[in-house]
Amino acid sequence: MIRLGILGSGSGSNMQAILDAIENGELEAEIVMVLSDIPDAYILKRAAQAGVPAKLIDCGGLRSKFPEEAQSETATLLKQAGVELICLAGFMRLLRPPLLDAFPGRIINIHPSLLPDFPGLYAWTQAIEAGAPESGCTVHYVDAGMDTGPIIAQARVPILPEDTSASLHARIQTEEHRIYPAAITKIAAELEQE
Ligand code: GRF
Repeated sequence: MIRLGILGSGSGSNMQAILDAIENGELEAEIVMVLSDIPDAYILKRAAQAGVPAKLIDCGGLRSKFPEEAQSETATLLKQAGVELICLAGFMRLLRPPLLDAFPGRIINIHPSLLPDFPGLYAWTQAIEAGAPESGCTVHYVDAGMDTGPIIAQARVPILPEDTSASLHARIQTEEHRIYPAAITKIAAELEQE
């Protein structure tokens, strides 16, 4: 049974989808640690409700910087918890060597666009503003870049003429909640073969 660590800054709906897939027997895994950089992030509440160990990582005042000491602390906490795969779920800071090097090939992310199109923030709004006919979501391995790294899985959704940022994001999230647990299932099976 693969041991997962989740890093998130927001609502944690993807973490919830992973928990639900475990509960339903679709995914053989255990979430052993949830870490957030935001004190009042809803993901921490969801983790507490589900009885999953959860902690706040102090990343200092800058919203996007992930200081080296905080990355080392994160790596230590996840190692101590026996994490085998780190799943970023709405985590808003870029990972750097102290953490990347501690889990080579073992960190994945979900991004709300069809990468390599529209990396970065508000990917759904970027897609609408570009006049794209469709968008979607991507599960990918994490490297030091922003939303780069080898692609594991994608799902497509149409962009409708009446779409707002919120309606498109909601449609994309429905697909995220389907493909993220499925991608973890696939990776867990591959790791078991190693
Ligand atoms: C998702 O749309 C994900 O693609 C992006 O951040 C959002 C996180 O949502 N990286 P949630 O916290 O899982 O609800």
